[in-house]
Amino acid sequence: MKIAIVGTGYVGLVTGTCFADSGNEVTCVDIDAEKVAALSRGVVPIYEPGLEEMVAYNLSAQRLVFSTDLAEAVKPAEIVYLAVGTPQGEDGSADLSALWSVVEELAPYLREDAIVVTKSTVPVGTNARIFSQLKELTGRDCDVASNPEFLKEGAAIDDFEKPDRVVVGVRSQRAADVLRQLYEPFLRTERPFLVMTPESAEMTKYVANALLSTKISFINEMANLCERMGSDINDVRRGIGHDKRIGFAFLFPGVGYGGSCFPKDVRALVAMAEEHGVEPRMLRAVDEVNERQKDVMSDKVKKHFGGDLAGKTIAIWGLAFKPRTDDIREAPALVLIDYLLRQGVQVQVHDPEAMPNVRALYGDKIQYCDRRMQALRDADALVIMSEWKDYHRPNWEEMRQLMRSPTVFDGRNLYDLRRMLDRGFRYYSIGRPAV
Ligand SMILES: NC(=O)c1ccc[n+]([C@@H]2O[C@H](COP(=O)([O-])OP(=O)(O)OC[C@H]3O[C@@H](n4cnc5c(N)ncnc54)[C@H](O)[C@@H]3O)[C@@H](O)[C@H]2O)c1
Repeated sequence: MKIAIVGTGYVGLVTGTCFADSGNEVTCVDIDAEKVAALSRGVVPIYEPGLEEMVAYNLSAQRLVFSTDLAEAVKPAEIVYLAVGTPQGEDGSADLSALWSVVEELAPYLREDAIVVTKSTVPVGTNARIFSQLKELTGRDCDVASNPEFLKEGAAIDDFEKPDRVVVGVRSQRAADVLRQLYEPFLRTERPFLVMTPESAEMTKYVANALLSTKISFINEMANLCERMGSDINDVRRGIGHDKRIGFAFLFPGVGYGGSCFPKDVRALVAMAEEHGVEPRMLRAVDEVNERQKDVMSDKVKKHFGGDLAGKTIAIWGLAFKPRTDDIREAPALVLIDYLLRQGVQVQVHDPEAMPNVRALYGDKIQYCDRRMQALRDADALVIMSEWKDYHRPNWEEMRQLMRSPTVFDGRNLYDLRRMLDRGFRYYSIGRPAV
């Protein structure tokens, strides 16, 4: 099939590359000329494991093309995917300005039989609005489908190629059939292809992200309570997780969720509910608990140093909002860095992939260390903010020698309490007693 993907970010690029890899002819369009130029040379501007090799392979097979020319990409396309960003607007609702400008721009070039598919996360009713907008612009009924994306950054290719399920919201049987064919290579192990209305598909994406965010805020609140009650959240997790109705997934306490999806999608759902006269009490609490949780490490650090942090040196391991990505959008580490800088702390950071993005924000206000151990030199404490594998088994002896004081604030509960005590560290974690 001939496919145009508009918006070549984390989602558009992975979608386009995976569709090219399964034999389709794909043109990925973006307004960012620099990004398009880099991708055309096989240079992938984001970190996503396995993606660069796959882009290179499909570029050389001439099935994957990058372009800034929307018209030329759309003209031959049987399917046009919209994968532009839908960031949070000022009032919390999703900002669809990029989407609308693309819809307007592409309308004159659409083939009569083209199917326009939204991959971006968009409020319920957007599909219907695109349909009427295209009708106004082209004078005909265009086929518009919704195909929300559930991939996780850091495991995006695997998620795309082996999806738990594919959800499509369609207005015609033809659209359902064409999309099923497109996805067939990824459904060979009987993965479910779920067909529904566009309104249900749009809602499905928000409900999935809202529930996952709820699990995180829930376990974080329980962790904070455990600390006060002298319980250990890890034991509690084990105690509840074996209950099949509960399970273990997504119930790890930490420093709050970040990234480009959960925060904005929860708020967009709040805005949607309010607009339709439904009081989103739980969703508001989920967001509020999460915002509070992002301060949890600053609070612990402040308390440990008796409120006076000026002149201290603090190391941070992990800046991305989670491991295996360079994405720092809404990352809890940024909230911590801002706090420490306000307190007059010297901040020394390490992250395997996200440092260039952090450097673009903070410049020379903080110190960037290529090696994790370098960040610990003369540090009064280490704070761990994302659980990259690199941090699971450090050299404790070297750490003790490098640090001014062997103090670790672990926002991801990577280490065993008793062993940290034996190793001679002052150790704070989440939802467990300090040792
Ligand atoms: N990142 C994720 O993990 C993830 C997962 C599922 C769904 N989503 C959703 O997918 C959508 C895209 O997310 P993302 O993380 O890929 O965003 P992103 O910011 O990484 O990429 C968006 C891209 O769209 C481009 N763009 C903006 N306006 C454009 C225009 N007028 N024409 C062409 N290109 C334009 C930008 O230059 C950018 O490259 C969002 O709605 C998001 O909520 C994201």
